[in-house]
Amino acid sequence: MKPITPPRVAPNERPQTYRVKSFGCQMNVYDGERMGEMLDEQGMSAASEGEDADLVVLNTCHIREKAAEKIYSDIGRLTKGKTQKKAPMIAVAGCVAQAEGEEIMKRAPAVSMVVGPQAYHRLPDMLDKAVKGERATDTDMPAIAKFSALPVRKKRTPTAFLTVQEGCDKFCTYCVVPYTRGAEISRPFGDLISEAQGLVESGAREITLLGQNVNAWGGENEKGIAQGLDGLIRQLAKIPKLQRIRYTTSHPNDFTPGLIAAHAEVDKLMPYLHLPVQSGSDRVLKAMNRQHTAEGYLRLLEQMRAARPDIALSGDFIVGFPGETEAEFEETLSLVDEVRYAQAYSFKYSPRPGTPAATMDNQIPREVMDDRLQRLQARLNRDQLAFNAASVGKSCTVLVERKGKLPGQWLGKSPWLQSVWFADEEWGEAELGDMVEVDVIDAGANSVQGVLRQAALT
Ligand code: 5AD
Ligand code: SF4
Repeated sequence: MKPITPPRVAPNERPQTYRVKSFGCQMNVYDGERMGEMLDEQGMSAASEGEDADLVVLNTCHIREKAAEKIYSDIGRLTKGKTQKKAPMIAVAGCVAQAEGEEIMKRAPAVSMVVGPQAYHRLPDMLDKAVKGERATDTDMPAIAKFSALPVRKKRTPTAFLTVQEGCDKFCTYCVVPYTRGAEISRPFGDLISEAQGLVESGAREITLLGQNVNAWGGENEKGIAQGLDGLIRQLAKIPKLQRIRYTTSHPNDFTPGLIAAHAEVDKLMPYLHLPVQSGSDRVLKAMNRQHTAEGYLRLLEQMRAARPDIALSGDFIVGFPGETEAEFEETLSLVDEVRYAQAYSFKYSPRPGTPAATMDNQIPREVMDDRLQRLQARLNRDQLAFNAASVGKSCTVLVERKGKLPGQWLGKSPWLQSVWFADEEWGEAELGDMVEVDVIDAGANSVQGVLRQAALT
């Protein structure tokens, strides 16, 4: 990439519009929204669709693949053929910024700001410097400080994310998260209840609690009594207009009997659980430092199904972890056959610099990984389609989230997180944020089709 020299905008010329491009996990989506809210507070506004923004924030993900390389090609695209005055000011945020901040500053002079996931509350100060032509890097990790420094939320959509916990102390040998997001921290109970109340007052009907290890969340309620995630969920369920609560992502070892019981007892807690297992082989799980066995995982799912028989299960899988044999991979296939996931995510192992697995012997050739991924995904797709097909002929509640592409078409989610679309010919009956009842008449692998049976249940 041919470098162009900073500053990106003429000195003392503040950017007026911004665009935040978030990659990767839902926590990055949440962080991206919060960065946007901060820039709004600075008097800026989001660039409209198709319009060039004065400031572009690339909110990056480092979990797999050559994420860093992608950043350089994005930067190249943003600056290509543009004069220095026309090129946007660029900030790199997120986990690649945390892991490779100095390198980015060296390699990409077009970047004015590099800010890690725990430091983005300082973006306004960095922006002041950038406007004066000074480049700034901040990859400190004062996670709690960040949340208290962020402006009050103004998001107005039927569904919202709420980060309750960040970081991870598990150190799975393939994973960068403990290095990029830092040690586990839980946000205080009271802060979370008030952020949730604010979200509901501005229209949220569903809140998804986020954390790299969300079920490790812990805090104290207003009476000083220790609470786990189930205590937080029970308190949130008391917010009258909040209809649905979800949480992601969990680790099998942080499940408590209280959280399992909450699935049986709290109606607003949706019957859906995303619980990564990564592999069905105990030898591989040990090499991954997952600290659980395949059997332990299956027993936990049994308990979840006993608490909530209709629960939809989801998972994450990695194929081709260093040293994974064909027989070990087949153990993963057998686990899938046993669980019958409603949906799942599967990935080829990607060596992450600085993680123990990256330097392990017996790295698996790409062709073998490709073949295993294909075979695993064939089974997962089979089960996802079967799960959706089993809904046909039944009715379910849908939270209406957005308009579809065609006139009169609405999209939303079932309690089991299936995408549901239905027609409302007159545009008359359903509204954004409504809970409606639909009869499911058809199913595909990625969505189901419904017919409106009853509008506005609440
Ligand atoms: N290679 C491939 N997949 C990975 N994941 C995390 N690190 C890696 C890696 N190095 C997957 C895991 C995790 C999900 C968020 O991403 O399955 O659960
Ligand atoms: Fe990464 Fe393992 Fe922590 Fe999940 S539990 S964030 S995979 S280290």
